[in-house]
Amino acid sequence: MRLAKYLAAAGVASRRKAEQIIREGRVTVNGERALLPQTGVSAGDEILVDGIPVRSPEHYYYLLLDKPIGFVSTVSDPHGRPTVLDLVKDIPARIYPVGRLDADTSGVLLLTNDGGLAYRLTHPRFHVEKEYRAWVKGFPSAETLQQLSRGVEVEGRKTAPAQVRAVRKGNGCTLLDNVLTEGRKRQVKQMCAAVGHPVLKLRRIRFAFLTARGLRAGAYRHLSRSEVKKLYHLVKMGSNSSV
Ligand code: URA
Repeated sequence: MRLAKYLAAAGVASRRKAEQIIREGRVTVNGERALLPQTGVSAGDEILVDGIPVRSPEHYYYLLLDKPIGFVSTVSDPHGRPTVLDLVKDIPARIYPVGRLDADTSGVLLLTNDGGLAYRLTHPRFHVEKEYRAWVKGFPSAETLQQLSRGVEVEGRKTAPAQVRAVRKGNGCTLLDNVLTEGRKRQVKQMCAAVGHPVLKLRRIRFAFLTARGLRAGAYRHLSRSEVKKLYHLVKMGSNSSV
C-alpha cells in the first residue's frame, strides 16, 4: 500500500494532509525517513510519524450489536449489571459503545475503538439519524405528533426537529416511529413523557443506515469495509482520516 494511503487508513490525517506530513519529513519507515507519498509499505513495517508509531488500520474494530434488554451500554457498571461488552468477549481491543442505549432499551448499537469516527457519529453537528420504535401509553393526537416533530422542552432545552409518526395502535398504546439526529440522555422517553405519553417499551431499529437485520438479540457482526467507508463519508471524514 502507498504510504499516504496507509496513514490515512490508520486515521492519522486525510490523504492530502498525510502527503504533506510525508513531504515535511515527519515520517520514517523502518528507521529511514520517507519523503515520497507513494513509498510502498506493508503490514510488518515500522512506521512512525513524529517519532510516534502509527497503529495499523487493521487494529480498528467496528461491531454492530443487537443489544438485548438488561445490558448497560457502558464499559463497566458500578451496580454490577451485565454490560454490552460481556456480549463481545473475543475482541482484542478496547472497544466501546458509540452513544448509549438505556438498560431497558434494545436494538442497534455500534461498538468501536475508532475514537474519531465515534465522536463524529454522536455529535449533533453531523445529523446522524437514529430511528426508534416506541410503544407509548395512550393515543397521541396529530397535534401532539407535530409537537414532537417540531421539538419539545426537555430539561430546559428544546429538542431538535425530528420525524415522528404513529405506526400502529392497540391495547391502549401507540407504536411511534421516531427519527432523531440528537442523542440526548433518555431522549425518546423524555420527549414522549413531556407530551403526556410515557414510553412503555423502546427499541432502536436504525443507526445511520445500519439496522439489526439478520442479527439475533445479543448477537453482533463486524461491519464490512464498505459500511465503514460509508460511515466515514456520512460524517465527512474523507477516505479514512481522523478528526
Ligand atoms: N432514548 C431513550 O429514551 N432511551 C434510549 O435508550 C435511547 C434513546
